[in-house]
Amino acid sequence: MDAITLTRPDDWHLHLRDDEALSAVVGHTATQMGRAIIMPNLKPPVTTTAQALAYRQRILAALPEGSAFEPLMTLYLTDTTPPEEIERAAESGVVKAVKLYPAGATTNSASGVTDIAHCDDTIAMLAKVGMPLLVHGEVTDHEIDIFDREAVFIEQVMKPLLARHPNLKVVFEHITTQQAAEFVAAAPDNIAATITAHHLLFNRNKMLASGIRPHYYCLPILKREQHRQALLKAATSGSAKFFLGTDSAPHAQGDKESSCGCAGAYTAPAAIELYAAAFEEMDALDKLEAFASLNGPRFYGLPTNADSVTLERRSWSLPAHYPYTAGQHIIPLMAGESLAWKLKA
Ligand code: DOR
Ligand code: ZN
Repeated sequence: MDAITLTRPDDWHLHLRDDEALSAVVGHTATQMGRAIIMPNLKPPVTTTAQALAYRQRILAALPEGSAFEPLMTLYLTDTTPPEEIERAAESGVVKAVKLYPAGATTNSASGVTDIAHCDDTIAMLAKVGMPLLVHGEVTDHEIDIFDREAVFIEQVMKPLLARHPNLKVVFEHITTQQAAEFVAAAPDNIAATITAHHLLFNRNKMLASGIRPHYYCLPILKREQHRQALLKAATSGSAKFFLGTDSAPHAQGDKESSCGCAGAYTAPAAIELYAAAFEEMDALDKLEAFASLNGPRFYGLPTNADSVTLERRSWSLPAHYPYTAGQHIIPLMAGESLAWKLKA
C-alpha cells in the first residue's frame, strides 16, 4: 500500500494558545484537520460563552486565507461555573463541550476544580443538555506517584462521577494507561476517550533513558510499555469509543528546555503522519479512518467531514524547529527525525 485516502480527520483535543502563538501554530492544524476541539486553558481561562465566542473569532482571524478549518469551542469548568452558563453554551451552537481540569493538574489549571462536588448542579445541567464533559483524568494529590495519578483518578473521581450522573457524556481525555483503556472499553456508550499520537508511539524510556528529553514531557506523563501496548490495542480495536485527540500543546523552546520545563508535546505539524506510524506498527492502517475521522463526530453528534485527505508512503524529516513568538522557536516532537507517511498537499 503506497497511498491511503481518508475522510478528512478532526482533532478532538487541541491547544492553540492566543495572540502571536495562535498565529504561529493554527495553520499546522488547519492544513490537516477539518475541525478541532479547542482547549480553554488560556491565561485567564475561557470560562464563559462570551469569552469562547470572542476566542473563536480570534482563531478564525488567525487562519491562513481560504482555510475552511472550524474551531469547536469549550469552556473551562471552575468551582463556581453556574448551570445557567451551560445553558448559554448549549444555545450558542459554537461551544461543544466543557473541560474539567482538576486544580493544579497541568498547564494553566490553577483555576480548575478543587472538588468535583462543587460542580454537581452544573454537571447535572451538562447531562441534561447532552453536552460532553471532557476530563483531564489525573488526581493532583502530591502523595500519589505521578505515574499512578490516572489510575487513581478512575477509582476516586471518575467512577463516583458516573455513578451520580449515569447519562453524562464523558470524554476521558488523552488516556495513557491500560486501566483507562480497559475502563472506557467496558463503560456504557456515553463514555469515550481520546488518545494522543505520542502516547501511542512512545513509552517513558523515550523521555528518560539515554538523556532527559524535555520535548517528550507532557501530562499525563508517558507510561511504561505495557500501557502503550494497551493504548495501541484500544485505538486499533475498531471500537467507536476511541478517537483522535493530539493534545498538541505548544510551548516556546526556552520554556521546555528549562530547569522547570513546561508539559506539552507539539505534534500538530505531523499529526496524522504520527498516527499513521502508530497504526502501521499494529498493521492496522485500515482502522485509521474510523479512529481519525468517523468516531469523534459520531460521539459529538456532528456530521463527518465532506472532503478527504491522502497519505503517501514517502519518507520525510520533521524540521528542527518552527517559528513561534518573537525571538522564540517551537520544537516539534520528533524534530529532525523521519516519518514514513506524508500528507499530500
Ligand atoms: O502536556 C500537557 N500540556 N498536558 C496538558 O494537560 C496541558 C497541556 C498544555 O496546555 O500545555
Ligand atoms: Zn490538553
